Parts: sequence; C-alpha cells; structure tokens
Amino acid sequence: MPYITVLLNRKGGVGKSLISVNLAAVYAEILGCGEDDPTVAVVSIDPQATSVEHADAVRKAGRPVPFRVVNAKNNVDQLRKLRRAKADIIIVDTPGFMPLEEGEEDAGPSIDPLGDGTVGDSLRAVLDAADDVIVPLPAAGAAFRSTKTTIERVLIPRQIPYGVVVYWDPRDSEADRDRTQSLVRRQGWDMYNTTIRHYKPHTRGITTGRLCTQYEPNPIALKAKADFQSLALEHQMRRQKRAGGQ
Ligand SMILES: Nc1ncnc2c1ncn2[C@@H]1O[C@H](COP(=O)(O)OP(=O)(O)OP(=O)(O)O)[C@@H](O)[C@H]1O
Ligand SMILES: [Mg+2]
Repeated sequence: MPYITVLLNRKGGVGKSLISVNLAAVYAEILGCGEDDPTVAVVSIDPQATSVEHADAVRKAGRPVPFRVVNAKNNVDQLRKLRRAKADIIIVDTPGFMPLEEGEEDAGPSIDPLGDGTVGDSLRAVLDAADDVIVPLPAAGAAFRSTKTTIERVLIPRQIPYGVVVYWDPRDSEADRDRTQSLVRRQGWDMYNTTIRHYKPHTRGITTGRLCTQYEPNPIALKAKADFQSLALEHQMRRQKRAGGQ
C-alpha cells in the first residue's frame, strides 16, 4: 500500500508544487529509482498542474524524471482509489483552494472551506486517503490566516497528522524564520524542525528543467537540495514515530 502525503495550504504560491516535485526527487534518489519506476509518484490535482509542467520541462531539457507524474485534475473517481495505486510513496500536489468570502474565515463549521465543485471533491478524496499532510508556511507574506483555516478547519477536524514547514529567505534575517516558528508554536500547531530556504535554483528549476537533485553542483545548490533531504528524513522519522505509537 502506498504512503500518501498531501501538500496543502489554502493560500496559493506558498511552495506546494515546488516541495512536491523536489521531495519526490530526493526520495527517488535515496531509493535509486529510474524513469518509469512506480516506487515514487507525484499526483497533481491542481488545474494549473505546476508539478506536471515542471516534470515536462525536466524531460524537455533531456533529463530524467525519476518518479511517476500523474495529472489527476477532475478525476475524482481515480482519486478515491488512490490507496490502491501501485507506488510506495505518493506525494499529492493540490491547488490553493478558493477563498472564502469576507468574514467567512471565522464562520461556523457549516461552511466547508474546501468548497463545492470538482476541486473541493478532489481535495476531500485525497484527504480521505492521506497518511499525513505537509503545510508550507512562508515567513514573509500573508499566509498566516489561510494556514490557520487549513489546519483548524480542515486538518484537525479530520484528525490527519500534519506538520507546518516554514519557508524563509536567508537573505532576510534568521529573525524572520524564528518569529514565524514561535508564532506556530504559540498556536499549538505541529511543526517540522526542517525549514525550506528560498534559493534561486529552486525558482529557476521550472525554466532550467531541473529537479533539486539535478542542480549544478555549487554551494548554493547543494544547500537548496540539502533542505529537501532533511525534509525527507524528518518526514520518515515522523512516520516511524507514529507507527511505533500505534
Ligand atoms: N524554496 C524556494 N526557493 C525559491 N523559490 C521558491 C521556493 N519555493 C517556491 N518558490 C517559488 O515560488 C513560486 C510559488 O511556488 P509554488 O508554485 O510551488 O507554490 P504553490 O503553493 O504550489 O502555488 P499554487 O497554490 O498557485 O499552486 C514559484 O515561482 C516557485 O518557484
Ligand atoms: Mg502549485
């Protein structure tokens, strides 16, 4: 049976797609996967399909994509059978879901923040199948309220194990990262010790057609890749800890 991890944050542009493909890339490298190997898969339910586009760019640049990429937008029936898919690790890339109307953030439980329609149904299907969720939270920007809705209105009621991953820019001070992490702790949210730093090779990955395992071997690129290796390790340690506690 596959282990299913969903990248989720109601806010767009927080790094869900970037984390999906690069976490899959380091898992594939650690596990020695080749092209068309079903061990690791990225499933995209995002109508914009950024992770699919990224993988296409890598292939177009003549480089291998060592994991399967499935564009499952609008395919709710397929998503409901995700637990039966042939893979060991599935990483699901989701869209930032529709904003609630003004004032609805604090509305009662009668409003489902996942919304109606195919996107809402796809999100519900993958969350029903999820073993855990990674919630990216940028230190800069205005993602705090959407993160709160994601965690408190979507994940906690479903009792899905999750961890916030803080995303920060090392060109700003570490104080930004520390402030965001202490804000998360004060909320009582579960958080990864690993953080993802903002680096140019990541931003350019989709245009240069590279995954973090394929960046030029310079010190910045190695740091950029190292964050994803740490994330993979911590992800597996959390999984093991939960399995041991059951
Ligand atoms: N660690 C990082 N370093 C550098 N650039 C990053 C990093 N994470 C994300 N980005 C850039 O930020 C932008 C948004 O990232 P991404 O597309 O992964 O967000 P998203 O949450 O998937 O957005 P959406 O909800 O619209 O799908 C992209 O241009 C991406 O390359
Ligand atoms: Mg995306």
